[in-house]
Amino acid sequence: MLRYLTAGESHGRYLTGILEGFPAGVKVGRSYIAGQLRRRRQAPGRSARQALETDAFEVASGLSGDVTTGAPITILIENKGRALPTPSALPRPGHADLAGMLKYGTFNASLIRERASARETAVRVALGSFALRLHELLGIAINSRVVSLGRLSSITAAAAAAEIARARRAGDTLGGVFEITAEGLPAGLGDFTHWDRRLGARLGAALMGINGVKGFEVGGGFGLASRGGIAAAADPELSGGLDGGMTNGRALTLRCAVKPVPGLPGGALSTDLRTFKKKLYSSKTSDTTAVFAAAVVGEHAAALELASALLEKFGSDSLTELKPRVEEWRKKTGKILNRL
Ligand SMILES: Cc1cc2nc3c(=O)[nH]c(=O)nc-3n(C[C@H](O)[C@H](O)[C@H](O)COP(=O)(O)O)c2cc1C
Repeated sequence: MLRYLTAGESHGRYLTGILEGFPAGVKVGRSYIAGQLRRRRQAPGRSARQALETDAFEVASGLSGDVTTGAPITILIENKGRALPTPSALPRPGHADLAGMLKYGTFNASLIRERASARETAVRVALGSFALRLHELLGIAINSRVVSLGRLSSITAAAAAAEIARARRAGDTLGGVFEITAEGLPAGLGDFTHWDRRLGARLGAALMGINGVKGFEVGGGFGLASRGGIAAAADPELSGGLDGGMTNGRALTLRCAVKPVPGLPGGALSTDLRTFKKKLYSSKTSDTTAVFAAAVVGEHAAALELASALLEKFGSDSLTELKPRVEEWRKKTGKILNRL
């Protein structure tokens, strides 16, 4: 079983993650992990604040040189600019602040923000790099792309940059939809025998666990609800690569809706929980959109979940054992799938 835990706050010394149950013999260079972290940090729409973070990291265990040993992998990512924000009883609208302050019985919203912040997703990307690399070595390609940004549905780098610049000038922020695809997955990952073993449920939990994600769909998703059964049956791609909670040998397609960044430069009205006075909470250093960065996080969160399902089916001790098992299974299932 592959599992992971993260810890750490935005202004703490480190963010930390532990990945346990990962096979031995997988070469994962530091530059590979650094490259994945850079994709998240430098995604379009992020604020100038990102320039402060270098995401300098250390792999404190689980590697011998660049190769995994099978022991738990520990990642430490250093936080720059560590001064703790001053205590404030003003919750940021659209964030975890209000519910978190009520839940943990505090008038200091900073204590909630420190951990609720999407800064934590850097660790998920660092740990997900190992899963992504494992998939690559097994011939599985996991990719992400943004399919809509605000009202823009035809995404090119230039069009997205113009839309982000327009929103920024208007003091506004943008949401969007990202898509994740996985090609080359062996058939039969996940299970139909119990609800929590269904791969769609597991991927949904991993992706809905990303800050700001408010919608999740597989294949035809919500659009399928308005299709007739005849039309749906004519297009097997609409199942998005999952049938009965298992991979069916086709490409996996997942989509997530990301809400517009709630931190507005011009401020959003909030209430101080000590004085009950109304006040504007303005976020001068917020990202304009999180959808491009969330897509990178989604790719890694999905890679971890898919690696977990794969290791459950084929064993998780070492890549040397795993690779021929996967190849053998592909050959065996291919004899049927290729004739359909
Ligand atoms: C990578 C990433 C970066 C984000 N950056 C910001 C930001 O700069 N400002 C902000 O207000 N929200 C940002 N968000 C969104 C908030 O984290 C998110 O809206 C908040 O946690 C509440 O979302 P929830 O209701 O889905 O939990 C970001 C999200 C992600 C995934």
